[in-house]
Amino acid sequence: MTTGGLILAVESSCDETGIAIVQDGCRIRANVVASQVAMHAASGGIVPEVAARAHLRWIVPVLDEAWAAAGVTWADIAAVAVTNGPGLAGSLLVGINFAKALAYVHSKPLVPVNHLEGHLYAAWLADEEREVQEPLFPLVALIVSGGHTFLVEMRDHLQYRLLGETVDDAAGEAFDKVGRLLGLPYPGGPAIMKAAAGATRHDVTFPRAWLAGSFDFSFSGLKTAARRVIATETDGQGTTIGEAALPEDRVAELAYGFQDSVVDVLVTKTLRAARAAGARSVVLGGGVAANRVLRDRLAEVTRESGIPLVVPRPSLCTDNGAMIGAAGARRWAAGARAGLDLDARPSLPLARR
Ligand code: KG4
Ligand code: ZN
Repeated sequence: MTTGGLILAVESSCDETGIAIVQDGCRIRANVVASQVAMHAASGGIVPEVAARAHLRWIVPVLDEAWAAAGVTWADIAAVAVTNGPGLAGSLLVGINFAKALAYVHSKPLVPVNHLEGHLYAAWLADEEREVQEPLFPLVALIVSGGHTFLVEMRDHLQYRLLGETVDDAAGEAFDKVGRLLGLPYPGGPAIMKAAAGATRHDVTFPRAWLAGSFDFSFSGLKTAARRVIATETDGQGTTIGEAALPEDRVAELAYGFQDSVVDVLVTKTLRAARAAGARSVVLGGGVAANRVLRDRLAEVTRESGIPLVVPRPSLCTDNGAMIGAAGARRWAAGARAGLDLDARPSLPLARR
């Protein structure tokens, strides 16, 4: 299957406005992301209405910058790919309508892309610094983001079998919620990683939800456990001090214990799934895959098992346009097309069991 040609890809499902130009499904010619993180940090989380407006504000400048960086013309573009779900309806609609307008004006095919497929296909983006160049089938992929946490098996391109998923919170959501409980800034994921790196004691242990050996995940109990521990913290004289007054070193220890629990479950289940599937590669993706401890531990256990691990660099794990370009190229080559009636699908699924 050829994935030749240039794909212009638009991503706006959550709080990053991303536009990329990707060649042959793997070479990044331009990848510009305008992040709303700083803006949402002020409110402690994403306000959907505010996110949608910020996409509207930034989408044209982001396109202009991507266009300038790629140095291409419309004649070189084969298709316009856009995330049509899952995500926030208002945010998705900004990208979808923008992509429709571009496709219509320049007479290019419009290709709908599932955001989660984008996170997966980030693993096919070329990276000179990486040892393993391309994932091999069959593979097992762990996708961990702010809204999703699941394990899939792929025996070929665009073919997915769901092995397990979270039964409650996504891993990133757990990081964000516990980050807030610890009084850390939004988003909790990077803040917890940073705080945990400063821990000098590693003796706080949080529960692990193994769910009777299934490949499903659960993180809500962990959040409850964290809340309970934090609520009972005292000043040493028996007075409860509450989250606002937690000393920095205690925050670091709790962050470490929490992160250790999440990473332990994610890594253990992924390795078990990879072995069960006879996987020739393991792929890691989604915003939480930017976590250094998760990357290192999964690298360690897959190396020991002789299964190559493919993890995009952190900036390609969090939301961006290039990943939509990589998946969009595959979809385009497979004949996927959308009309100007393409609508947002906030709960669009990727795979079934
Ligand atoms: O994939 P993503 O950018 O957006 C969604 O599709 O949800 O993922 C965002 C999530 C947030 O929950 C954020 O806290 C988490 O990824 N995240 C991290 C790290 N960087 C981002 N979690 C743990 N460690 C990190 N370094
Ligand atoms: Zn995402």
